[in-house]
This record gives sequence, C-alpha cells and structure tokens, in this order.
Amino acid sequence: MNTGLLQKYNVPVPRYTSYPPANFFRSGFSEEDLHKAIVRSNETDPPHLSFYIHIPYCRQMCFYCGCNSYPMAKTDEVSRYVDAVLKEIDLVCGYIRSNRKIAQIHYGGGTPTAIPAAFIEKINRALLSRFDRIANPEIAIECHPGYMDESGFASLVGAGFNRMSLGIQDFDNNVLKAVNRKSALLPIERIFKFLRQNKIRINLDFIYGLPLQTAERFSKTIGKAIDLSPDRLVTFSYAHLPSLFPRQLVLDKRGLPEREEKERMFEKARILLFESGYKAVGLDHFVREDDELYAALQKGELHRNFQGYCTRRTTGQVYAFGVTGISQLSMAYTQNTKNMAQYIETLESGHLPVEKGYALTEREQIVREVITDLMCNERINWRQIASRMNISVADVKQATAFSEQKMQGFADDGIIRLDEEGLVMLEKGSPFIRNVAASLDVLLQGANKLFSTPV
Ligand SMILES: C[S@@+](CC[C@H](N)C(=O)[O-])C[C@H]1O[C@@H](n2cnc3c(N)ncnc32)[C@H](O)[C@@H]1O
Ligand code: SF4
Repeated sequence: MNTGLLQKYNVPVPRYTSYPPANFFRSGFSEEDLHKAIVRSNETDPPHLSFYIHIPYCRQMCFYCGCNSYPMAKTDEVSRYVDAVLKEIDLVCGYIRSNRKIAQIHYGGGTPTAIPAAFIEKINRALLSRFDRIANPEIAIECHPGYMDESGFASLVGAGFNRMSLGIQDFDNNVLKAVNRKSALLPIERIFKFLRQNKIRINLDFIYGLPLQTAERFSKTIGKAIDLSPDRLVTFSYAHLPSLFPRQLVLDKRGLPEREEKERMFEKARILLFESGYKAVGLDHFVREDDELYAALQKGELHRNFQGYCTRRTTGQVYAFGVTGISQLSMAYTQNTKNMAQYIETLESGHLPVEKGYALTEREQIVREVITDLMCNERINWRQIASRMNISVADVKQATAFSEQKMQGFADDGIIRLDEEGLVMLEKGSPFIRNVAASLDVLLQGANKLFSTPV
C-alpha cells in the first residue's frame, strides 16, 4: 500500500455501518417515540421486514472481541432472557402492519449457538407464525464452531435456517489460543459436508491483526478457506479499542503485529481470493461470482444494515430484539439498553427497553442515502440518488458536506475518479472509502467521538 496515502488518510473515521454512526445516538428516546417510528416504518417501500435477534452469551470470552457479548448464564437466567425477547417481539410486532412479509431473520451476538437450540426454535416460531414470508427469505445465524457437534447443526437445520455464518477467525490453533478461543470441535470439512447436504449457504468469518498472525500464516488460513469454497467470506480488520473494550488490553502484552504486517495480511488474502474467483463486496466481504450480493453490486443496488450487506429485496427495515439491539427504521435508529437486568425487568413490566435513539432530519436522511450508496456500491451517482429521493441533484449535494475542492483532492491522490455522474472509487483508493464518506458527513464536522483508523 502507498505509504504517502497511508500517512495522509489513515486517521480515525467512522466505519459507516450506519449513518449517523451509533455513537451519535442520544439518550431520552422514549417508548412513545419508538411506537411512532414503528408506525411510520409501515409506510416505507419496500415493505419487507428484516428481524435481528441479539443473543449476547458466550461460553468463553475472546480477548479481541468488540461485540456486545456477556459470559454464559445459567439456564434459568437464559430462559428468562428468552421470555423477555418473546415479550419484546409481541409488543413491537403489535405496531407492524400484519400484511408485511419477512425477508430476513438474523441471529447475532455474542453467540446465538451458545444457548440451547430449543430457545432459538421458540423465537423463530414466534416470528414466522406472525408474518408471511417472501419467496426465499434469508434465515441466518452466527455459529461458534468450537462448541457445535453434528446434532447442534442438525437442530438449526430443523429450525428453518438456510444460512450459517461460522466464526473461524483463524485456522491456526496457536493464534486462537493466544486470544482465548476454542478451535472447531468437528473437522471443518465434515461441517461443510453436512451443511451442504442440507442446502445451507455458508459464510466464514476471519479476523486479521491478532497476536502471532503473519501475512504468511494468515494466507495459509485463507487458502484453506478457499479450498472449502464458502459462499461468502469476511476478513475483519481487528479493531483495537481497549478504552471501549478493556478485555483487549491483554493483547497489547501478547504483541500485536506491526501495521505494515497487518496490511500485508489483508493484501495477500485479497489477492488469493481474487485469484480463486471471489469478488469483493465492500472492503472486507468476498463472495462467489454467482452470489446475489455481487449481482446487486454490479447494478449499483447493494445496501447494508448492521447485519452486513444485503440487497434491496432483503434489506427492508431492521427491527431488532434483545439487549443492545439496534433497530434501523426509515426515520430513526433506536437502541435497547445494554443492561441485562434492566432489559428483562422493563419487558416483564410490559414496556419496551429502548435506551437511546436518533431521529433523522430530512437532511440527514439524504446524507444517509449518499453515504450508504458510496459505502456499498463504491460510487456516487448524484442523479440516481436525486431521482430515488424525488429531489434535485443540487439539493442532494447541498444536504451533504460536499466540497469540489476536497473531491478534487481525493481525485489528485488517485483515490477516486470524478465523472459526469459523480464519482467512482479507484482500486488504490478503496481502503480509504471511509475518508471519502467522512468528507460528505455533515455531523462529523467538529464532532468529538472515538473512531478506528481505516487500516
Ligand atoms: C458476534 S461475532 C460472531 C459469532 C460468534 N460469537 C463467534 O465468535 O464465532 C461477529 C464477528 O465479529 C468479529 N469481531 C469481533 N471482535 C472484533 C474486533 N475487535 N475487530 C474486528 N472484528 C471483530 C469476529 O470476526 C466475529 O466473527
Ligand atoms: S468473538 Fe464471538 S465468541 Fe468471542 S467473545 Fe466475541 S461474540 Fe463471543
């Protein structure tokens, strides 16, 4: 990677998995505000529903983890949590128009597979019995292979899942040991065979930038992944934010790889994946050529929500359940409390545990459209966005922090190409897509928030 560009652009910027980023959400978003936001969400097109269920428990905490995760609780506590989630589903779905259809259900965490499968089945039934489904909805779950035998996978197949995301992180056991993580219980080839026989689509998660990882060793891991031919693969850049996640402090002592080595890990992995026919979707997602995400990218119709990339067909609006869950509705984001006891008690008393939220102004909705389009499709077509939003190109540009001069600067540095329609990210500039997005962000100017660096 170009050292000059790195020096200039490797500064903290939001990841833009949402706009505005989650650290802009404010407290004081009331239950009534949430009711209103859900009712408004019924009017938006496409009408499809996307549900996210957060299961926060993990059997063992990985030192690098930046997710909303908690150590495993006793079964009766888990059962109380699941009852609270069911209650939340009941309360929220009461405001959703009953003829809307489910396009996506996603279980994340923590580790959804840490709790007995019967609980997951119960939650799935509560959602699926309430609404119809579109043709081929995506019903997905994040799995930790360290604790799953064949009967564990079979229960998930029986519960109706059609996509499973396996958290491999690294195939090297020494790396896993250094970060306090268990390697897969079953040989990975056997897991693939079983899931393929049951027509389950498979995603694999990896993370680079951990102790003991080198470009050489990480490419062995990616090579092994390629041999398995997953449908999708993600290479997360390890985000080291010990002030937010104190459990990460121990990794400083174990020795994190140098920045240049971390860059080489990604570069080598990317080349290997491209050589094997995988296509990049966004910066760190790789999919097979026949994947619907790649087709959407080619048409400029890729979207994303907190669950990852999606198409317009599946995106809908996201209604999240569970502690820390973030709902992404047309006019607002809302986040549940992070406090487990409070989450359960609020629902047991018949109320929704909303803690924070953000109601987007019309201007911010335009900025969100532009930044999301850039982050997903790696280009901005001002005319297309204006016509989608039924406003003029000038209105779109004025709503953002757009500056000809800044854009020319990115173009001069070979990060973007300016054309008649707007701009296109160049391959050399793609690691700095977040910087281009930040230059359009009206809320970022003068904001005093903590973000990670692009590389
Ligand atoms: C909720 S976890 C996946 C499910 C399951 N708990 C597991 O670990 O297999 C989601 C993903 O976030 C990624 N992740 C966790 N902490 C991260 C961090 N600090 N930086 C970058 N990625 C991280 C990991 O790769 C992980 O697979
Ligand atoms: S990476 Fe997964 S298993 Fe590890 S602590 Fe985080 S959520 Fe739990």
